[in-house]
Amino acid sequence: MTDRLTLRRHIRHCRNQLSTQQQNDAAQAVIDHVRRADHLSSARAVALYLANDGELDPHPLIEWYWSRGSRVYLPVLHPFSPGHLLFLHYTPDTPLQANRFGIPEPRLDSRLILPKSELELIFTPLVAFDAQGNRMGMGGGFYDRTLAGWRNGPGPQPVGLAHNCQQVDSIPVDSWDVPLPELITPGRHWRW
Ligand SMILES: Nc1ncnc2c1ncn2[C@@H]1O[C@H](COP(=O)(O)OP(=O)(O)OP(=O)(O)O)[C@@H](O)[C@H]1O
Ligand SMILES: [Mg+2]
Repeated sequence: MTDRLTLRRHIRHCRNQLSTQQQNDAAQAVIDHVRRADHLSSARAVALYLANDGELDPHPLIEWYWSRGSRVYLPVLHPFSPGHLLFLHYTPDTPLQANRFGIPEPRLDSRLILPKSELELIFTPLVAFDAQGNRMGMGGGFYDRTLAGWRNGPGPQPVGLAHNCQQVDSIPVDSWDVPLPELITPGRHWRW
């Protein structure tokens, strides 16, 4: 099972089969890993995402960061730079609207945009990962573009979030794919 489409279909099915209870337990387990890692728990400006398609639900983690006084940002599709993301400040009062993929995002308001370089962490969703830190997303290249060159700049460090069942033996990678330095599943905090 090496081609990307087959792999995506298989793993998306597995994460969509998880029960509400399993999703809730997974979200709490991830908070426990973050709590134990100083460089994650101390971050004051973090990008997270809203769960879609059975993804690990980061909302409890978002609320945990809020409770510590950290600022949380969500990705918004760039209105005129195709394939790119903006990061907008997210609070419990932020109005959301569905984007063209049906995923809720903050309504675009330029006053809420934080330049990417001012984020400390970007928690990324993903479809599949392997034990080498290779990452495969939903196929849009949004996070690959966002994270391109992150090791060479002052910008944020990525942290993948996934369910245990999203681990595969080997991810087929292309030149533009950005491997992760770190990833959290309910069962393990991976660091490469
Ligand atoms: N840094 C980049 N610059 C230009 N195009 C890119 C870049 N990264 C990825 N792409 C393009 O995006 C498309 C989708 O890439 P890919 O299949 O790796 O997405 P993905 O990793 O599944 O998605 P995502 O990054 O949103 O999680 C590819 O056709 C690729 O050419
Ligand atoms: Mg990719």
